[in-house]
Amino acid sequence: MNEAAAEHIPVLAKTLTEQINLPPDAVMVDATIGHGGHSFLFGKTLGPEAVIVGLDIDKKSVHRAQSRLQALACRVILIHSNFSKIAECLHNEGIDAADFILADLGICSAQLSDVEIGLSFQSNMPLDMRFDKRLKTTAADIVNKADEKSLADLIYRFGQDRASRRIARFIVRHRRSEQITTTAQLAQIVCRALAQPVRKRRPRIHPATRTFQALRIAVNNELENLEMLLASAPQILKRNGYIAVISYHSLEDRIVKNNFKQNEKEGVYSVITKKPIVPASEEIAENRRARSAKLRVARKK
Ligand SMILES: C[S@@+](CC[C@H](N)C(=O)[O-])C[C@H]1O[C@@H](n2cnc3c(N)ncnc32)[C@H](O)[C@@H]1O
Repeated sequence: MNEAAAEHIPVLAKTLTEQINLPPDAVMVDATIGHGGHSFLFGKTLGPEAVIVGLDIDKKSVHRAQSRLQALACRVILIHSNFSKIAECLHNEGIDAADFILADLGICSAQLSDVEIGLSFQSNMPLDMRFDKRLKTTAADIVNKADEKSLADLIYRFGQDRASRRIARFIVRHRRSEQITTTAQLAQIVCRALAQPVRKRRPRIHPATRTFQALRIAVNNELENLEMLLASAPQILKRNGYIAVISYHSLEDRIVKNNFKQNEKEGVYSVITKKPIVPASEEIAENRRARSAKLRVARKK
């Protein structure tokens, strides 16, 4: 792995630590521990009675966070698990309530260059996309086996690409002569499919961005997992406890927005961020990954 690319800068970190004050004996659940960047910042304010429970579906993220967080005074429990199982994880550790749940969705910088995950259209890697190798279906399985209509629907639904039918047609045509096994192959097929101008296509992103996003969401069941995390949160949070979610595309953000709104309507949450908080231009200039971030925060009543 390219170590230079492995540096992960936590997004909206200053805003988050300003918005959320934790008691020194807090229970914080970092549902996406990543490199432990956010947890480290919160952890510095916590005492020895506090605990940070960190979850991640990527084993390598858990290992990275382990070395980053070992200097903290508080207890740190790191678990290689999907956040959809947050309640079960806490129960297994004998923890029944949390002051703060944080989910910083999306990917760490190092995951993009990790050939074992196989996510990048910028370089050539095996087409896999599973963060958690316990999952059975890879992106290559989908592009080589799904019928044309299902592929088009998937690219449209999870990638919001209006050229989904054309992309699916090109994929199916290509695989008749050769299996699609690498990210470079797939990126080339999508670029070829989009060579003809598509109305209102946004030119500022790589043509394969949406197809790759769609496959990643499908392979890792990302939206269902998010729904499950959000459904568990009210039972886990203490009174006045916070949930904060940073999302990186509109499909995720809509799920978070609707969940918070519904919980507010039912008297469960107060929504702290009526509009999502987005990074300032200075942060985006320093960290390109921050450009699409949206932070929403709610407090349990
Ligand atoms: C943007 S990074 C988190 C970075 C972290 N906040 C930091 O400051 O270092 C997102 C992490 O969430 C993990 N992840 C994605 N979906 C997950 C899920 N359903 N359950 C647990 N972890 C997940 C990814 O593997 C990745 O390590």
